[in-house]
Amino acid sequence: MGKIDPTSPVPKYFQLREILLDLMEDAELPVDAPIPSERELCQRFGLSRMTVRQAVDHLVSEGRLYRVPGKGTFVARPKIEMPLRLVSFTEDMRARGLEPGARDLDRRTMPANAHLARVFDIPPGTGVHVIERLRTADSEPMAVERSHIPATVAPGLLDTPLSDVSLYDVLEKRFGVVFDAGEQTIEAGIADSADARLLDLARGSAVLLLQRRSFMNGTCVELAVSTYRADRYQLHSALEIPRRNRVVPRQ
Ligand code: GLP
Repeated sequence: MGKIDPTSPVPKYFQLREILLDLMEDAELPVDAPIPSERELCQRFGLSRMTVRQAVDHLVSEGRLYRVPGKGTFVARPKIEMPLRLVSFTEDMRARGLEPGARDLDRRTMPANAHLARVFDIPPGTGVHVIERLRTADSEPMAVERSHIPATVAPGLLDTPLSDVSLYDVLEKRFGVVFDAGEQTIEAGIADSADARLLDLARGSAVLLLQRRSFMNGTCVELAVSTYRADRYQLHSALEIPRRNRVVPRQ
């Protein structure tokens, strides 16, 4: 097991954080296992209570540990990586071995406001379907998705039950919609009280706000505005090397 190095410039709480993370990675501390109590950690690593608490608080706020009042602190499940590909929720969950689910919250057709008219390049007032669903993985709430689709693209869409069904599947099979391009914006946000309740989060919890535009033949056919749990999702991306740092092979 790792040791705290008192001569290191790395703060002691951070060293303890690293040690605990190593234990989680080595499966000595598996998911849902309790971590040693603050007192044990103080004794084992020769640290003050304040330092131990700082390390644990850090890991709790990072979503790596969770506290159960009166019981202790436990190892959290690893977060899911937000897909940066144009895949459906159903496809993504299945690829991870999780059972995707969708609970119908609301669906309606509304006249396009100026913003939607611009996004879809349709005249204002044209019908747009709005489909609100709670997405689950192995029955656990993960996201609230609000999809907007021009009614002309999928005329009878709202007659189709969309609970526990892939919207992208229905769009493809019934309406011949096959997306060929997409773009997405992801930003940090705070869950409003309705989304917090649906997602089983404390009010004021951090969430990821997503806006996805999916295109077919150069035209936007879906605008999805979604709220994802920030305690269950993280972003990971490859980094490109800037041109000035690229190694140019010698001739
Ligand atoms: C992802 C996207 C949504 C899209 C959904 C469709 O989650 N962020 O924009 O509506 O997939 O998923 P499914 O086909 O499983 O209903």
